[in-house]
Amino acid sequence: MSGEKRSRLRRLVQRISRSDAANSPVPKTAVVVFHKADGEVIAEGVVDTHTTVLAAAAQLEVDFDHFCGGQGACGTCRLKIVRGSTALSKMESKEALVLGSRAQSNGDRLACQARVMGDVEFTVPRWF
Ligand code: FES
Repeated sequence: MSGEKRSRLRRLVQRISRSDAANSPVPKTAVVVFHKADGEVIAEGVVDTHTTVLAAAAQLEVDFDHFCGGQGACGTCRLKIVRGSTALSKMESKEALVLGSRAQSNGDRLACQARVMGDVEFTVPRWF
């Protein structure tokens, strides 16, 4: 990774950390970063808040499984939150049921159900 890219990522991480700490109103846009499991950045970009994570991924050309088409029924769109867990919409009972308690405690969310409310980073499934 180049020094410029590392510096840019560091600024993004700092911005996300500040976002975690603040209980500020929802901004109009947010930075979303998708990583591979080894930390390599797949895509990063700015999206409108209230967008589902699945739609944000599509905007940033990150493709992963979502077999039920975003109905919150299959669980294949599961992602792990790296930073910014408070920058997502609250988990509804349907999502909680599909994820189960273990996935929830691991910091997983369903991309088709969670909405971006602030800066956030994810690790996409290992099969990406
Ligand atoms: S696409 Fe099926 S649960 Fe999200």
